Amino acid sequence: MSCVAETQRLAGASRAVNLRFAGFDFPGPGRENAELTAVAPHVDFGRAVVGKIVAGNWKMNGSAALTDDLLSRLRAGIPARFFQSGGACIVCPPFPYLPQAQRLLAGSSIALGAQDLHPGAAGAFTGEVSAPMLQDFGVSWCLVGHSERRHILGEADSFIRRKMEAVLEFGLRPILCVGETLSQRESGRQTQIIDQQLIAALVGLPESALGGLAVAYEPVWAIGTGHTATPGQVGEMHAHVRGWLRGHISQGFGQKVPLLYGGSVTPANAHDLLGQSDVDGVLVGGASLKADQFLGILSHAS
Ligand code: 13P
Repeated sequence: MSCVAETQRLAGASRAVNLRFAGFDFPGPGRENAELTAVAPHVDFGRAVVGKIVAGNWKMNGSAALTDDLLSRLRAGIPARFFQSGGACIVCPPFPYLPQAQRLLAGSSIALGAQDLHPGAAGAFTGEVSAPMLQDFGVSWCLVGHSERRHILGEADSFIRRKMEAVLEFGLRPILCVGETLSQRESGRQTQIIDQQLIAALVGLPESALGGLAVAYEPVWAIGTGHTATPGQVGEMHAHVRGWLRGHISQGFGQKVPLLYGGSVTPANAHDLLGQSDVDGVLVGGASLKADQFLGILSHAS
């Protein structure tokens, strides 16, 4: 299906979602297993992020001991000027460490993020975790559509769309991850793939519901490989994503949405990457597990 046809199909499908905005229909207790059907239209996301965003995705790594050590070091080590310049630092530990992380980060400016969630509010979904559960532990951000969930765990665009709606409904801030595989890039389809992912996740959602959105461009071939995208490639793709958001949401919205780059970010390349226009932050995997490396990246973001 062409991108245009797909846009039209999804816009049609999501009209149903839009129509339910006025009614604002939460599943709530007693409606277990219900699909989420609305998106919080006017959530106050608090302080605007005007500086850089540095987010750490620990993936399925860490331990209680690492959580203690890493978060204590981050608390002590992030320079005050990073937060004074309006920056946001987010850590996304595995689910079991969220309560511990919440305790360790209490009173600090470091925000807590989740790596994933289930679109339902509650119910018979063995092994899954919902937005309200995450909020019980102080989570304010959530990754949506990380490539490891798309490609390793087989999550389809339609499921990622439902997660996006759940994140918005409960007033979490989504970091929507998009990115092409190596073969998609080698066949010149990188922008087409990104468009498909953006269309599936966002088309039909009202701008008023998207105030907390950030988008992370994470080329799959750059994740965990040490092959960082060049600043030129990053600049080109971020300009494309911003253009898409201007065209499909609104000019003003596209202009201000934070765009993050992810894929083998290290202290050695963070300065160049963060210096690109249209790069408002980084989503860091491996280097977010080592305090000195994550702090090194943060030092380029103030
Ligand atoms: P690496 O920084 O390990 O390449 O991982 C990037 C990533 O997937 C962050 O979400």
